[in-house]
Amino acid sequence: MPSRGGGPPKRRPIPHVKKVIVVSSGKGGVGKSTIAANLAVALSFTSPSQSNAAGDGEGHRRKQQRRRRIGLLDLDVFGPSVPKLMGLQNAGEPELSAQGALLPLYSHGVACMSMGFLLPPSAQPKDLLEGAATAEGGNEDTPVVWRGMMVMKAVQQLLFDVDWRASTGSSGPHAAPHPSSGENIGADEGGDSLDVLVIDMPPGTGDVALSLSQLVQVDAAVVVSTPQEVALLDARKGVSLFRKTNVPIAGLILNMSHFISPDTGKNFLLFGSSAAFDALAQRLHVPILGRVPLEPALSAAGDCGQPAALALAFHRQSSADADAERGDEHDIAGEKSSSVPQTANVFADIARQLV
Ligand SMILES: Nc1ncnc2c1ncn2[C@@H]1O[C@H](COP(=O)(O)OP(=O)(O)OP(=O)(O)O)[C@@H](O)[C@H]1O
Ligand SMILES: [Mg+2]
Repeated sequence: MPSRGGGPPKRRPIPHVKKVIVVSSGKGGVGKSTIAANLAVALSFTSPSQSNAAGDGEGHRRKQQRRRRIGLLDLDVFGPSVPKLMGLQNAGEPELSAQGALLPLYSHGVACMSMGFLLPPSAQPKDLLEGAATAEGGNEDTPVVWRGMMVMKAVQQLLFDVDWRASTGSSGPHAAPHPSSGENIGADEGGDSLDVLVIDMPPGTGDVALSLSQLVQVDAAVVVSTPQEVALLDARKGVSLFRKTNVPIAGLILNMSHFISPDTGKNFLLFGSSAAFDALAQRLHVPILGRVPLEPALSAAGDCGQPAALALAFHRQSSADADAERGDEHDIAGEKSSSVPQTANVFADIARQLV
């Protein structure tokens, strides 16, 4: 929460996280959560840096087995999407560590935390906050300041009171995968910290966005926009907030940039040309990280908790097998495959630019 006097609050690292990437947008509904979830999955399938790999057979084997340790934090307190997008809606409540920290739930090898895990399925975060304010304050209408404080408290807890280390997970179905379980998420290298935490932001440039940039050491911010002019205006506001708060901006992602007809392969610019988006990126001196097509399958995959970028897993396995036969090094991030849906390749490409 912004401090009262005494200068701006000091930025803190998120415990047990090596790199923080924020996915944001000035506008709601442009695909932040979909992109954050797919990016988290794609990042987990990109190989860690080549320099870690020994040239011998053992190093080669280790490298093939290691997945980056990735976390996905849902900071949208009022509209959490991560439980659904990652198929964790019925995963139950997170357990607490001996120190009282929240333990993430795991899906597809990604450590996840969301306000959605902390509330009963029927409860809306908004109702709960209003209920709490009424009970405490004896006031029918929740005072705005009260609600703001509750939100900020929740945000701070999600940012700083989660123990992202794999080894502290329990043995439940949504607990951290154990290195020997076949889903090695890399506890062997660099301790058991997360390599990357992807943060899915609520829409807009309000209190949560401002607090995040004041409280946390963010390594890279990604701003998502769709091609429409109204979205571009808000994307500009998002970039401007990060600039003002000295958060490094990794680049822009254009979502729903085009639609490829599945039968003819023809491109349709359903929301107009991307010329205005390209011009904005140029004017702001911000790189374009990728263009994600409008794809019904991407939405359907999110609705059933199986992010489309999971297609990279099957490709990773088959090409790792082929490489092993040839004795080659393998790096999914540096390649594109025609056997993987184009959208999954787009996410792999964006992931490669972020690590
Ligand atoms: N490239 C795409 N192709 C098809 N559908 C998409 C695409 N991107 C997002 N969607 C769909 O658009 C809807 C909104 O996406 P999403 O929830 O990710 O947006 P958001 O920016 O996180 O929204 P909010 O601001 O409410 O948090 C979802 O139904 C999602 O499946
Ligand atoms: Mg969202």
